[in-house]
Amino acid sequence: MTEHLLSADILSRASEIIANRLGLYFPQDRWNDLERGITLAAQMFGRKNINEYLGVLASASLSKEQLKTLAGFLTVSETYFFRDEKLFEILKFQILPELIEKRKGKEQQIRIWSAGCSSGEEPYSVAILLQQLIRNIDEWNITILASDINPVSLKKMTKGIYNEWSFRGVQPYVKQNYFVKTQDRRYAIQKKFRDMITPAYINLAEDAYPSLLNDTNAMDIIICRNVLMYFKNETAAKTINGFYNCLVDGGWLIVSPSETSQTLFAKFASVYYPDNILYRKNKHIQSSDINFPRFDNRQNPDISSETDLQLHNVVNYNEAEKTEDFPEQTSEERISSLHASAYQQANELYREGNLTEAAKKLSDYFTYNYNDPKAHALLARIYANLGKLREAFSCCEKAVSLDKLDAANHYLLAAILQEQNRPEEALVSLKRTIYLDKNFVTAHIMMGNISKRLGREYESQKSFRNALTLLEKHKPDEILPETDGITAGRLIEIIKAANYEGASL
Ligand SMILES: C[S@@+](CC[C@H](N)C(=O)[O-])C[C@H]1O[C@@H](n2cnc3c(N)ncnc32)[C@H](O)[C@@H]1O
Repeated sequence: MTEHLLSADILSRASEIIANRLGLYFPQDRWNDLERGITLAAQMFGRKNINEYLGVLASASLSKEQLKTLAGFLTVSETYFFRDEKLFEILKFQILPELIEKRKGKEQQIRIWSAGCSSGEEPYSVAILLQQLIRNIDEWNITILASDINPVSLKKMTKGIYNEWSFRGVQPYVKQNYFVKTQDRRYAIQKKFRDMITPAYINLAEDAYPSLLNDTNAMDIIICRNVLMYFKNETAAKTINGFYNCLVDGGWLIVSPSETSQTLFAKFASVYYPDNILYRKNKHIQSSDINFPRFDNRQNPDISSETDLQLHNVVNYNEAEKTEDFPEQTSEERISSLHASAYQQANELYREGNLTEAAKKLSDYFTYNYNDPKAHALLARIYANLGKLREAFSCCEKAVSLDKLDAANHYLLAAILQEQNRPEEALVSLKRTIYLDKNFVTAHIMMGNISKRLGREYESQKSFRNALTLLEKHKPDEILPETDGITAGRLIEIIKAANYEGASL
């Protein structure tokens, strides 16, 4: 049996706290790593007494400093370019060409998330593949979200400078064609690849996804390799479910061969390749199967047909009346509560990630209540999560036109415009949001992120400062609207990390 300097009590408490806060799993056979990590973290944090340090970790919400120290010492950041040659061949010769072909000449958009990307070798490898495969890449709207919990790794990724060790097993042409040699004999990735990456500070165990706020929605491919293996089973299951909801229909989840599992990925279809099993979401369901309302011919709905539809629904609901019990309600009240509940059900289905069913419910709702802005806004979110940004945009425009004074509609429009790579228009919508509601925290944050990406440092700092001032008025554990469940305290940490480490929210 291995001897430890710390008692079994302390180690088991530490492993519990770390599992809760970081999702990292330290079973007894990894207590050596745990002991080394927390001892170093406690020293760095100026706490000689480990128990006292654990008390701080367990009680307060993790500050960025604690998180950085802990994550840095406890996570394994091992990675290199084109790690797993066979997988990158599958991506290069099968998955990406199929996706490119499907989108070519249409929306020309691809969204990929490298979750737990460490110092960036994995997302940059994907960026290189896309450059190789797409001739007019400037005409495409490509997102490569590269997230990690370790700000030190994210900082290395944004700098994009690597030494020989990151290229082990990589063919020499990669260094020659895509990197510039630095004076100290390291390799800096060319700027065009750095510009393709959106760094983000996301804790997979705690943060909310999918969310328009951190741009984790409507992903075509999520690569999360050599990360889940360090998670407790429950955390891994929760993470995988979150990924499922982040993917568009037919989207791919890629984990490493040692992380595959029949039970954990049961919701996905398994696709077998030599040496790799990849997971695919609902590949049989196409969003075109959903019966969405047709906006063009319903911009000015014909009154008589609208009345027909209403009558049709009244007849249907009167049928329902025979079997259901509605005490003390007039028939109008009954109908209106059925209508309201169709919207609520759609909303619940959307929150559960059941987009197809949510859209079906909503299309029922539209037949009798076409002019409800909140229903159009919900449909816009559904489309955005399905990766159908053009449709999301027109639904959201409709919601805005039906209720111009609702700040949330303008904010949603900004989020969609941002995803469509229309930053200037997104900024206009954000200004409108803030004009209508100056306390709209996430609008300030999004404005900060967009300005930062546009290189407008002064505006960006100003927006982040506004957001911080607003957030500091709230309790750390308070959840504000439009934050997808992220607490005020966590948003403060994230803004600070984004601001100082070059990562976005
Ligand atoms: C071994 S590296 C994997 C890097 C890359 N995906 C690969 O396969 O080469 C594991 C990464 O997961 C990150 N990680 C660990 N726990 C995490 C969490 N809760 N949220 C986000 N990232 C996490 C670590 O910081 C580390 O960078």
